[in-house]
Amino acid sequence: MKMIDNIKMSNYTLVKKCRICGGENLHLILDLGKQPPANSLIEKSQLDLSEPVFPLRLFWCNDCFLVQLLDIVKKEFLFKHYLYMTSASKPIVEHFTKYALDIHNEFLKKQENPFVVEIGSNDGSLLRQFKKLGSCILGIEPASNLAKLANDSGITTMNDFFSLSNAKKIVESKNASIVVANNVIGHVENLHDLMEGIKILIGEHGVFVFEVPYLLDLVKKLEFDTVYHEHLSYFSVLPIINLIGRFNLEIFDVQKQTVHGGTLRIFVSKKNNFKIKDSVKKFIKLEYEFGINNIKTYDKFSDDVQNLKNKIITLLHKLKNEKKSLFGYGASAKGNVLLNYCNIDSSILDYIIDTTPLKQGKFTPVTHIPIVSSDQISNTENDSIALLLAWNYENQILDKEHDFRSNGGKFLIPIPEPIIK
Ligand code: TMP
Ligand code: ZN
Repeated sequence: MKMIDNIKMSNYTLVKKCRICGGENLHLILDLGKQPPANSLIEKSQLDLSEPVFPLRLFWCNDCFLVQLLDIVKKEFLFKHYLYMTSASKPIVEHFTKYALDIHNEFLKKQENPFVVEIGSNDGSLLRQFKKLGSCILGIEPASNLAKLANDSGITTMNDFFSLSNAKKIVESKNASIVVANNVIGHVENLHDLMEGIKILIGEHGVFVFEVPYLLDLVKKLEFDTVYHEHLSYFSVLPIINLIGRFNLEIFDVQKQTVHGGTLRIFVSKKNNFKIKDSVKKFIKLEYEFGINNIKTYDKFSDDVQNLKNKIITLLHKLKNEKKSLFGYGASAKGNVLLNYCNIDSSILDYIIDTTPLKQGKFTPVTHIPIVSSDQISNTENDSIALLLAWNYENQILDKEHDFRSNGGKFLIPIPEPIIK
């Protein structure tokens, strides 16, 4: 792999304080080296150009226990044009269909003119479900390509980053019954501005519902590849309680979801509006038992991730020596982290298949592996092996690719322990 060390300093800052509590008692727990932004796929014409890379390191705050990045790549650089489309992953669309129905039944169906605002609404997949159920909707999405797609398909979307000042503009007409944010608050640098905005938006009676990948799953299942520059915070319940308590808000329910390798759905309202469910206490207990407050938990995690890297590399080289034809499945952002951390480039994987039209024809950053349409799987050799880079959809993908597997093709699932199925 061509080694490129090209940190564009104008797009990069190193912060020294915890994003939630402001503490400076921060410990390095995992160093993934210098990496390109994980979603920055490149065009064929850019293959000979140098690419920006930035340090990618995970830190843990000894005061509030938030796990976080301090290496910040400018948000305009990461999110203004975005290739990840919710609607390209069928399991996510299914998850959102049920999600909207659950929220509708619990909070909206008895309200007159319910209003749902989504932060980071992507192509509008979730809001479309709320709209079908009769709510007024508004999306807020910084990627102009996605906001346009959503608006063109009838999902009203503001093309901007969410902020306190946007929240103030929205409430001039109406408070939100529900503010929803999925896989997005981990992307936000200024969590205090975000919470101030949400507090205003939900007013006295609204509910803020959000989903975040769960730190405990990341640590337990060695999901190191979900660490990338877009994801600034890796949440657990305790640091969230610390954050929202500063805004007179409280968590009244926590639910575990299976998407994205293990996710929490968290329900927040103004203090004393809802009865607090037992789930909140249950998660707090679980987190202390797990040791989220203990540096030893993260020392072990770091050792385990380095061992896993060695195992993945050894196995791929062994398969390559056996002349197996290897390709990648799912050009996910996390896939790029895994490829870069394990030095897997186009000399090892012939190509990566992906269902996202926006990704096809492009190449992975630094590792330069071509991305092709998912039809390509029907042209593979009988004993090919697909490195599953979208391991979060393992069950669905293995079912879907029944023909490939019955013709002798196999999947290599890289985490938490590389196995071939
Ligand atoms: P994600 O893990 O961030 O959702 O990204 C998964 C990527 O994998 C995304 O680019 C869509 C792609 N994908 C496929 O190519 N085939 C599939 O069956 C699924 C579920 C996803
Ligand atoms: Zn802190």
